Amino acid sequence: MKNSKVLITFDILTLMPEMFLALSDYGVTGRAFRENIVSLNLWNPREFSTDLHKTVDDRTYGGGPGMLMMAEPLVKSIEAAKKRQSAVGINNSKVIHMTPRGKLLSHKKVKELSECEGFIIIASRYEGIDERVNDWVDEEISIGDYVLSGGELPAMTMMDCLIRQLPGVLNDDESATQDSFVNGLLDHSHFTRPEIFKKKKVPEVLLSGDHEKIRLWRLKESLKHTWIKRPDLLDEKLLTKEEARLLEEIQIEQEQDSI
Ligand code: ADE
Repeated sequence: MKNSKVLITFDILTLMPEMFLALSDYGVTGRAFRENIVSLNLWNPREFSTDLHKTVDDRTYGGGPGMLMMAEPLVKSIEAAKKRQSAVGINNSKVIHMTPRGKLLSHKKVKELSECEGFIIIASRYEGIDERVNDWVDEEISIGDYVLSGGELPAMTMMDCLIRQLPGVLNDDESATQDSFVNGLLDHSHFTRPEIFKKKKVPEVLLSGDHEKIRLWRLKESLKHTWIKRPDLLDEKLLTKEEARLLEEIQIEQEQDSI
């Protein structure tokens, strides 16, 4: 066991707790759970339903399609999760509802959230939750402008992003500092063996052993990918002199290529 201190505690409210095995039992995130760097508690609002049939959803007032998650089982689950987090010394847990109407998750948002040590995440189903539950919610977060059938995959997406930022989760080979978006740019291209694949050769510079040349090539590649695929990211980024010079080179090269 690498780490004795749990760095983030997640309490998840979900009608489908088994889905979270995909996060807790596999890959990099699975390792973080096994090494106790993160902890996960699953709450099923059905357990807090007071009627015989364990009902958690009902029709919407005013009519319309679909069902809503009822307030009481959700609020009771949030309160139980808060009590549990405070019993392990977390008194500032953030309650997040995953919903397409929330603030878009970005690298900046992940960095901001990673300051927090306790999360209570509502992974809602059906058409969403009774509006009055929002008195217990600190933040609404969306993972993109599309609608999924439930908040479980969005919750796991956000949790994965948070977990990989934690110290001790990734080893040197997997370092998160090299990820896309960390410096406001998309990642550069990568190559592995063989040196020649279907007549396509790995760029010579990567075989040169010249670290400075490789750094410059990678930065230029990052800028090129960003300029071509996500120019909006460049509008928000303050370029260094070196980056501005490389971008100018890229633009001249592209213009020449198009003649
Ligand atoms: N639940 C359903 N769709 C969602 C989305 N895009 N983001 C977050 N939660 C959701």
